[in-house]
Formats: sequence, structure tokens, C-alpha cells
Amino acid sequence: MKIIVTGGAGFIGSALVRHLVWVRGDEVLTIDKLTYAGNRDNLAAVAECANHRLDVVDVCDAERLRSLFFDFGPDAVMHLAAESHVDRSIDGPADFIRTNILGTCALLETVKAYNAERAADKACRFLHVSTDEVYGTLGAEGAFTEASPYRPNSPYSASKAASDHLVRAWRATYGLPVMLTNCSNNYGPYQFPEKLIPVIILAALRGAPVPLYGDGQQVRDWLYVDDHVAGLVAVLENGALGRTYNIGGGCEKTNLEVVTEVLTAVAEQTGADRDEMLKLIEFVKDRPGHDRRYAIDGTRIRRELGWRPQTSFADGIGQTVAWYLDNKEWWASAAPEESDHGGP
Ligand SMILES: NC(=O)c1ccc[n+]([C@@H]2O[C@H](COP(=O)([O-])OP(=O)(O)OC[C@H]3O[C@@H](n4cnc5c(N)ncnc54)[C@H](O)[C@@H]3O)[C@@H](O)[C@H]2O)c1
Repeated sequence: MKIIVTGGAGFIGSALVRHLVWVRGDEVLTIDKLTYAGNRDNLAAVAECANHRLDVVDVCDAERLRSLFFDFGPDAVMHLAAESHVDRSIDGPADFIRTNILGTCALLETVKAYNAERAADKACRFLHVSTDEVYGTLGAEGAFTEASPYRPNSPYSASKAASDHLVRAWRATYGLPVMLTNCSNNYGPYQFPEKLIPVIILAALRGAPVPLYGDGQQVRDWLYVDDHVAGLVAVLENGALGRTYNIGGGCEKTNLEVVTEVLTAVAEQTGADRDEMLKLIEFVKDRPGHDRRYAIDGTRIRRELGWRPQTSFADGIGQTVAWYLDNKEWWASAAPEESDHGGP
């Protein structure tokens, strides 16, 4: 297939591009603005591949998008470009509104114009990659289904919720062949070191405090990034048009459990003393509007598309810690010396 991946120089996008280019042999055009979170080095492995190209483009630039779509001729677009960090959205929501809402709108309009020039059976499909955070927070019981009401609590999740609504509306109003996914928390190699798991790893390696929000009892459902990529490909290939698929790890953990398991893995792989590492945990003032618990009911994607996560948390964390140990030069330039942000 010919596929445009937006945000393909970011964490999940680059894992997706590597899979499409290497494993599937698709022809891929990556569109990315290369913000602080985007990095050419994330795509170094496919830089020499004839079936991949990166264009540095802002998804809000409707004119550039239009010429790229008509030149490249995609069969599908997988839309991952976004401002993605909750703490940054609290400090400054404007970029989130612009990229996540206006950028998605520009992309939808581009696909609409592009499809108007193509035969109906060759229409470009639009896979919109979103988050479980649009559903808000859960109590101790239950899990988000695709029918859960939208109740976003942070500027980030509100902007993603708005983009989901636009995608739905472009389906209902203009018949665009869209699909949506709402996924739980990802982790793995190449994650920018402002998110919880790389923050823990890098703090542990530096012997610096490991910040943890509030009481550390917030629950998230963790998914290894390559499993997310497999879920996205399953939806792209066999998902029903207009349908939403929740993608989850079936792996609920409190933030305190995550920190403890990651520090244990770092101690094991570096030969450091585990008890000394655990003493680095420092509880910090909680994030405003912090959701207490997320959990995904993954029945639909399992039943309809046969997808389920393959990587256990222990294996995924082991691989992730090993990757950060092996790729110091990757994170040394990008990572802030210390983070006071203690959540995913
Ligand atoms: N990380 C998670 O746990 C998670 C979970 C569920 C859903 N998601 C969604 O998956 C997508 C990717 O997340 P990620 O963690 O890889 O994010 P990321 O921050 O690592 O990457 C985002 C990428 O988008 C690019 N970008 C930002 N603004 C842009 C713009 N205006 N034009 C073009 N490119 C732009 C950045 O340069 C970067 O390469 C996002 O849409 C996010 O909402 C993430």
C-alpha cells in the first residue's frame, strides 16, 4: 500500500513506520513537523530504504498537504501527529488546540478533496489514532468501551476528543472512509524522556530523584508500543469503516507499581542495588485534574479483528530498559537533566 503516516518521527509513529517499511514493504511518506518530540534519528533505520521518505511539514499547512497527497497518491493515511504530553497541555494549551484540532481538520479536508478526484473504490482511508483519555476517569470498577461517554479532563484529552468528533462528523457528513482507535498508555524504545517510564529510567541511571505524582495510586493500562502498531495495522487492514476500536494492554498497574518494576529492571540490568534505587522515589504534588484510573475493554478488537497484546509487561520493560542503556547518545541531548513531572 501507499501510506502517509503523520507524526511518523515521534515515538509511536516511528515504530509504525519501521513496521510498514520493513515488515510489510509498504511505500510510506512520513509527514512530521519535527517539534521537540519529533526526531529524524527515530527513522534512521529506514533512512536508506527506497520505500520511505520524510517530509518536514506542519499538518496545519493545508496547501502543502494538498500537493503532497496529489503527488504521492496514498491509499491510506494514518494520523498520529499531535501534541501528546498532558503536563505540557496544562502549562500551555494553545499548541494542543492548534495541532490536534485544526491540524486534524486540515487533514480531513485534504483527504476529502483528494478522494473527490478518485474512484470510490480507490478512496483514501483515514485512520485516526487517539487515546483512552477522551473517556475521562474511572472508579475502582469497570472499563472503557467504545460506547463510553466522552468526558475529557485535561487540555490534551479535550483536544484529542475534539479531533475524534471531527473525524466522526466527516464520516457522517461527507462519507469519508474513516476508522478510529483509542489506545491506552504506550511504552517502549524511542519514547521522549518526558513520559513516565523513560523519566524513571533516566533518573535511576543518573541517581536522581524519581518523581511520582500524589500518592502514586493512579491506575493506567500499559501496552508495549509494537503491540499498538500491530493493532493499528489490524484496524487498517480489516477494520469496518466508521468504526471505533479501543486498544488496551489488559495490564492495569498503579504508577507506584510501574516505578517499582522499572527501577527493579534497571537495578537488574546495571548490577545496582535495588533497595538503594527504590529510595530514589520522591512523591511530588499531584497534577491538577489528574485522572484516577483508566482501563480498556478490548472485546471488540479481539473478537472482530483477532488482535491481542503479545508482550508481557516484564518483557516489554526489560526490552525498554535495555534499549535506553544501549542508546545513551539518543537521549543525552534530548532529555532534561531532571524532571519534576511524575506521571504518564
Ligand atoms: N503515547 C501514548 O501513550 C499514546 C496513547 C494513545 C494514543 N496516543 C496518540 O498517538 C499519537 C502519537 O503519540 P506519541 O506518543 O508517539 O507522540 P510523540 O509526541 O512522541 O510524537 C508526536 C509527533 O507528532 C509530530 N507533530 C507535532 N505537531 C505536529 C504538527 N503540527 N505537524 C506535523 N507533525 C507534528 C511531532 O514532531 C512528533 O514527531 C498521538 O496522536 C497521541 O495522541 C499516544
